[in-house]
Amino acid sequence: MTERFLPYGRQCIDEADIEAVTRALKSDYLTCGPEIDAFEREFEQVTGAAHAIACSNGTAALHLALAGLGVGAGDICIVPTITFVATANAVRYCGGEVVFADVDPATGLMTRATLADAMARAGGPVRAILPVHLGGQSCDMAAIADLARESGAAIVEDSCHAIGTRRAGGQVGDGKFCDAATFSFHPVKTIAAGEGGAITTNDGDLAERLRRLRSHGITRDTSEFIGDPDEPWRQELHALGWNYRLPDINAALLRSQLSKLERFAARRRELAAIYDRGFSRFDEHVRPVTRLPDQDPCWHLYVLRIDFEALGTTRIAVMNALRERGIGTQVHYIPVHTQKYYDDPATLPGAAEYYRTCLAIPLFVGMSDDEAHRVIRAVGDVTGLKAL
Ligand SMILES: Cc1ncc(COP(=O)(O)O)c(C=O)c1O
Repeated sequence: MTERFLPYGRQCIDEADIEAVTRALKSDYLTCGPEIDAFEREFEQVTGAAHAIACSNGTAALHLALAGLGVGAGDICIVPTITFVATANAVRYCGGEVVFADVDPATGLMTRATLADAMARAGGPVRAILPVHLGGQSCDMAAIADLARESGAAIVEDSCHAIGTRRAGGQVGDGKFCDAATFSFHPVKTIAAGEGGAITTNDGDLAERLRRLRSHGITRDTSEFIGDPDEPWRQELHALGWNYRLPDINAALLRSQLSKLERFAARRRELAAIYDRGFSRFDEHVRPVTRLPDQDPCWHLYVLRIDFEALGTTRIAVMNALRERGIGTQVHYIPVHTQKYYDDPATLPGAAEYYRTCLAIPLFVGMSDDEAHRVIRAVGDVTGLKAL
């Protein structure tokens, strides 16, 4: 029997999810209905934040968060260069300028030191800082928030990889270290909506602004009306927003997925532990990313750092050889400052080193223990390193 192909990530959908979507489809509301409020209250419970705002995807969540915080033309925002392009693009949507921060080559994460370096290069006041919890591991937010607050910058934690990650004194999304945290529910993420996103915050005024900006900027609050509040059709536009709403169909799926977050996170942790044990028997040329203390990540990605050169091979050769063995891998990410659109001449050596070695191997809830062992054996075969 041929072994099934293992992608680097994929959704886990069961009958309960299908029933939830069917329920939404049979209801009166395909959008702007009760599934949205219900999801938001449940997401507040799960993250511990005072407010959750659902939106159409993680990119919209970043854009809304920055717009809601007032980031505008010319405002400098700091983004780690190892992230998905959306983190930086959101700054540009607001007319802001991106200064890219370097990362720790062992983790791919922005640190207090790489943030301080970016702030020094910024050449002016920094309006917002967007730490990215790459692969599910949280940045050291106590250290980053400390520096950010000294400078008066707002903090938006790009938590698109890190729902379910616990860290000292709380968890990602609880708003303790930031003004807002953003999430994505793209199918490779831990919980899937097809397309979907959310923002969490403990700031009630910001939450109100975000809800309004998500729906064109329109207000239906009669106490704010400039025109006649008795006109039953009246809605007013006082600030420009977007249509970044999440449909009820997606929210229904998301609620069903969210109810399984604990189980999904536990399975991801189990698979990561199998990998950790397996790769600990390889030599230093194949290592998982370094773990930070005081946290229990819900792993979105399992990233190996492979010194391809020292092993006498290349990343392309290893990826192709793994693909031939039915194993998908991916590189997260090409340093964003080197993308043609940004074309930033900054030298960021930590990011260059991380990028040179990183490779995400399959990690998804539907994988079996045997399949994780199969991946370990295959990585051993194609790198010429047999587990000891
Ligand atoms: C770190 C990071 N930020 C933002 C996003 C954007 O999320 P979405 O694809 O839901 O727009 C992603 C999604 O891939 C991501 O990985």
